[in-house]
Amino acid sequence: MDIAVVGSNMVDLITYLERMPEEGETLEAPEFEMGCGGKGANQAVAAARLGSDVLMVTKVGNDLFGQNTIENFKNNGIRTEAIEVGTKTSGVAPIFVDPHAKNRILIIQGANSELTPAMVESYKEQLKEAKLIILQLEIPLESIYKTIDVANEFDIPVLLNPAPANPALSMEYVQKCTYFAPNESELGILTNMPVTTVEEIQVAAQTLIDQGVQHLIVTMGEKGVLWMTEKHVQVIEAQKIKAVDTTGAGDSFIGCFAHYVTKGASIETALEKANLYAAQAVQKRGTQLSYPTKEEFLHY
Ligand code: RIB
Repeated sequence: MDIAVVGSNMVDLITYLERMPEEGETLEAPEFEMGCGGKGANQAVAAARLGSDVLMVTKVGNDLFGQNTIENFKNNGIRTEAIEVGTKTSGVAPIFVDPHAKNRILIIQGANSELTPAMVESYKEQLKEAKLIILQLEIPLESIYKTIDVANEFDIPVLLNPAPANPALSMEYVQKCTYFAPNESELGILTNMPVTTVEEIQVAAQTLIDQGVQHLIVTMGEKGVLWMTEKHVQVIEAQKIKAVDTTGAGDSFIGCFAHYVTKGASIETALEKANLYAAQAVQKRGTQLSYPTKEEFLHY
């Protein structure tokens, strides 16, 4: 197995709108799409579509959406033996995409909140076979910490994507991860510092390096990607493309980066590939719906 993702799955309810309604206003939106999402699931699907052997550890809802989510994992060639059905309904994500392709996302965790440390422990044998474990923050923090402990026990690198940002995230655990990959707004929340320009982002990023972060990867949208370690600072320029929907772009980046780095690519090459993959994904609508397969990925 190449990659294990311990994380969320959601039902994405995506509304494309001209503007957000004002308080008390009812506004008709021109279009709507429903699809499988959730940051963990999205990252797993991106890596699997590129050809990685992926195990998903997740809790789906006790409803029709939950079964559909399991089918979706199977259709993408993802291992489903560590997927359980919870007692709650499915996690859902109402998403609003504006005409500039920018999104606003709400999440309701639902069954994802039932992915407990005990569940992580019960899949230890499977997890120890992974070359990389990916985590995000749409499941309980204790389960994130438990997974990092398991990964450390077996010397498996961890890629932690702190999304959505949670200021309660323990830096002690972040230090135990090989890769820490926030986007610029998550970096701002975690450091409580301004992150409008690349220069500001670098200053904020440096404070995380000073706290012991190993490889810090900050996705900055049209400003590109910042990769920073104690000894190295590099900005990978963004592609000049016309985005139609940026929802899930960060997840496509993480999944693609994980795919290439576990196949033996250098970090720099994996970041460049991930940058290109996300640029291709934002040119189509939807989250997982927009992720290219290996054959569709233009820069394969
Ligand atoms: O990153 C995009 C994802 O965030 C969506 O798929 C939504 O489900 C939320 O988890």
